[in-house]
Amino acid sequence: MEFSSTSYASQIRKIVDKHQKWRAEECLNLIPSENVTSHTVRQLLSGDMGHRYRADDRFYKGTKFMDELESFGEKIACEVFGADWATLRPLSGHMADMIMVSTLAKPGGSILTVSPADGGYPGLSDQAGYPTFVNVRNLYFPFDSERMNIDAEKARGLIEDEKPSLVVFGQSFFLFPHPVKELAEACNTAGSRVVYDGSHVLGLIAGGEFQRPLQEGAELLLGSTHKSLFGPQGGIIVGKKEVEAEVKGRQFPGLVDNAHWNRIAALTYALDEARRNGGKYAPRVIENAKALAKSLHERGVPVKCADYGFTASHQVYLNMKDEKEIDRLTQRLEDANIIVDRGIRIGTCEATRRGMKPKDMDRVGELISQVYKGTDPARIRPQATRLRRGFSSILYA
Ligand SMILES: Cc1ncc(COP(=O)(O)O)c(C=O)c1O
Repeated sequence: MEFSSTSYASQIRKIVDKHQKWRAEECLNLIPSENVTSHTVRQLLSGDMGHRYRADDRFYKGTKFMDELESFGEKIACEVFGADWATLRPLSGHMADMIMVSTLAKPGGSILTVSPADGGYPGLSDQAGYPTFVNVRNLYFPFDSERMNIDAEKARGLIEDEKPSLVVFGQSFFLFPHPVKELAEACNTAGSRVVYDGSHVLGLIAGGEFQRPLQEGAELLLGSTHKSLFGPQGGIIVGKKEVEAEVKGRQFPGLVDNAHWNRIAALTYALDEARRNGGKYAPRVIENAKALAKSLHERGVPVKCADYGFTASHQVYLNMKDEKEIDRLTQRLEDANIIVDRGIRIGTCEATRRGMKPKDMDRVGELISQVYKGTDPARIRPQATRLRRGFSSILYA
């Protein structure tokens, strides 16, 4: 890439402005790991707290309003997720996972997760993921790939035999609720701690949809704050009171020191948006995902789990395996201003927050299917941009 030696400042602005115009104004964003924040959340992200330090040992003075904000944020998170305590400090979902593994897994022990091959989160389940750094061995849930879910019966046997120190429900390719309730007792008997990585589905859970991990037997619920939950990028952990001291003791000062207080201000506000409006937003997200899946399926695009209602989350999963075909389609969609990931997963959070409804999802499905069937992306691009421009407000705020 060539950068001219004059006026770095204007070049920086130009690059950011080009991204802003394209991704924020012209594209249909369908990445299930992404969302859009409200204007107030963005405003709070750029506030003075972003310049400040605060530490538990009171090393820094001048933090009284940050102290107050943190308590308020934790209170709202507890209300939203039905938890006894919360921390908004993890800087990302991955860091929340690191804190959880460092706290609950025994070195020399094992962690049971969905494998990366079945859509588990590589940061936890890949052989090069975080658990191996702390001498924790990976085990994988038996998985029914037709139904895209854990095989609960086989998993019970594996938990009884292996007695993993930690069992983590939740995954990155997440279509259907996991059998937490069904396996909680086997985990307790085996002495396994039970956790739910809700990175993808926190916004659905906050709105009373998908499942209620803490009430079904998990002692911690954690994840990213910016996927189906419409907060700033970051992480969160909420849980039962028995584990609070263990987790918080590990978190500071070992894994999180500076927690980025502007982010915590913005997250607190987003949690309150979810508290007030999540019950309207979450069912719409799922309804839209089902409508999009149906539209694609009826137009001949291969959608995973057609026999099982496609999805119960914000994700639609295309049934494609050939890497070259995936590369070609995802690039052609990008050329048409339709942004998905290489899963291929398609998500409806951002579209829903912008106000799209099932009939609009049908139109999105139509545009995707035309690209899939070979129409020149340049012919689809203006239609995708026109559709996107029809939805410029941010709802549920
Ligand atoms: C299940 C799961 N856990 C954790 C993460 C990590 O989240 P973050 O990107 O916030 O670090 C992801 C990211 O996609 C994920 O899918």
